[in-house]
Amino acid sequence: MPVIPLEDELGDVLDKALRCSGLNEDQLAARSGVPVEKIQDAEDYRYDALTDDDLRRLAAALRLNEIGVGALARNRYPRPRIAGLPFCVYPMHMPFGVGVVNAYAVVDCGTGVGVLFDGGTSAETLRQVWPKAVRRIEAVFLTHPEAEHIGGVPDAVERFGLAAFYGPRNGQCQPEGWPLGEGETVVAAGYQVTAFSTPGHCAEHNCYLVRPKNVPKARALLISGDLIFAGSLGGGYFSCEQLLRHARRILGALPGNTVIAPGHGPMTTVDNERRYNPFLV
Ligand SMILES: [Fe+2]
Repeated sequence: MPVIPLEDELGDVLDKALRCSGLNEDQLAARSGVPVEKIQDAEDYRYDALTDDDLRRLAAALRLNEIGVGALARNRYPRPRIAGLPFCVYPMHMPFGVGVVNAYAVVDCGTGVGVLFDGGTSAETLRQVWPKAVRRIEAVFLTHPEAEHIGGVPDAVERFGLAAFYGPRNGQCQPEGWPLGEGETVVAAGYQVTAFSTPGHCAEHNCYLVRPKNVPKARALLISGDLIFAGSLGGGYFSCEQLLRHARRILGALPGNTVIAPGHGPMTTVDNERRYNPFLV
């Protein structure tokens, strides 16, 4: 499997944290005691001048996790081994901006039958990266109705003869999508998929917890959309406060060995994010 770079570097994390804090760079410099030039350099992805003490001060001033800030700054954010799931997960990475946007197929490893989460940038792009081992899809779920996530969804719905896809409640998914609210569960292809309503990145956003229907205690998969990334969070464009609250409640509630499959960047685990995600304090 290719090594997917992190969606966000420390510069992006500082940028997102600054926006959510309402501070400007000068105010952050005054509050942290770190010179404004060093802060601007860090936002431009130059961290060499930042001392460990600077990093600690920035983390404290922005209410970030200093272990995560330090790990990102020193290129030591650990990549957890993704293993032990009771089904096959096929991440479909599609180029988007400087990184990737992801769709995921969760299927039975023997039959290749399962469910799809998000659809990438377009029908054509999704078809190009579609794994041969994924033979049939019995339900499609959308995390949020932004172009790079919904692009290939209508084509997948049509290709597999489905009536509609599932998506966030009160979203632009209606009337063609079936809305799923907090705690609502769908069983399809032998999988139990439970929605978490997690607005913040945008007004309509769901995460989905996936487990085999008959093995409720099995290791689970969280499709996190643009709420939680490996080593970061999505942008809080609709509401920073709601984004942070939902990310913390979900990472606090799920078992530590839950695998996380984000809308951008590589996969991770709940344990890894509890320790290293800069926004988890
Ligand atoms: Fe996105």
